[in-house]
Amino acid sequence: MINKSKVDLGPLYDYYEFDHTEDNFLPAVIEGLSLPQKQLSSKYFYDQTGSSLFEQITELPEYYPTRTEIGLLKTHAKEFSELIGPGASLVEFGSGSSKKVRIILDALQKPSAYLPIDISKDYLIESAKDLARSYPDLIVVPISADYTRPLVLPVIPNELVRVGFFPGSTIGNFTPEEAIKFLRAVSIDLGTGNGLLIGVDLKKDTDILFAAYDDEAGVTAEFNLNILRHINRELGADLDLEGFKHEVRWEADKGRIEMHLVSKYDQKASINGHIFRFAAGESIHTEDSHKYTIDAFHSLAEEAGWRSHCHWTDSNDLFSIHYLQVR
Ligand code: TRP
Repeated sequence: MINKSKVDLGPLYDYYEFDHTEDNFLPAVIEGLSLPQKQLSSKYFYDQTGSSLFEQITELPEYYPTRTEIGLLKTHAKEFSELIGPGASLVEFGSGSSKKVRIILDALQKPSAYLPIDISKDYLIESAKDLARSYPDLIVVPISADYTRPLVLPVIPNELVRVGFFPGSTIGNFTPEEAIKFLRAVSIDLGTGNGLLIGVDLKKDTDILFAAYDDEAGVTAEFNLNILRHINRELGADLDLEGFKHEVRWEADKGRIEMHLVSKYDQKASINGHIFRFAAGESIHTEDSHKYTIDAFHSLAEEAGWRSHCHWTDSNDLFSIHYLQVR
């Protein structure tokens, strides 16, 4: 299942690639666009352009989660380090630019390894190399994979404890049912006695949410539309980016922000020989971002086999970080 491909390791200790990263892109797109409510999986946002647009989102004035989470990580880094203990290896699910983990690594006592997992291969390797250069004593093993699929993590020599790191409220991009499934799988990947440091965005005033997902500069709109560009490039499609607009909806009963691409007029597109029609006003659902209360997240974690050891929030109750332990 695991296959190492020919990558110049440079400062990396090792590199693994799971062969399931792009393999079912075409069938997934065809299936999603054939549903009554058209949808595309958000994992396809993250090509090279998508990853760098997402980096820009995290720096937007309206996008409070990154800034708030980084503040919490910095404020409580010493506490995390005491909870985690020495000789830990950190496994990050969806590592992106690997910026946040540096705050933890700087605070940990003799961390043994860092295993970033990401679907965006080139971006992953670049970021992992940068990080390995900054931490010459650390074993860095990037893993290119879709982390929602089963994984077998490599064994690291001399590691004392294995801790998962899942920041950015990415857990909110799963439905609660998927989140439970994912957290269960993570508890199995990491093994008993191990921990998970996870960032979870909190329920709040919807004006703050609308601004965070529909920024003034239009970066989030550009990011959302980029999924169409990714499909055009990889699957030989002719989706017209000018023909769709970014739309954000708050679904109160589901407690989530939804991202859509709404067709501006009647149009059709061809994807690898398959024709799809889009009526004026019809949408493609591209992403969900669930917001939790502390209690609701605790019961979700419990159901997935974890117990919450500790959690931290900022003074405005915008965002939370939890340290979970495998039960
Ligand atoms: N985990 C992030 C969130 O839910 C992802 C995200 C932020 C996102 N902005 C986005 C996903 C815009 C799609 C579109 O906040």
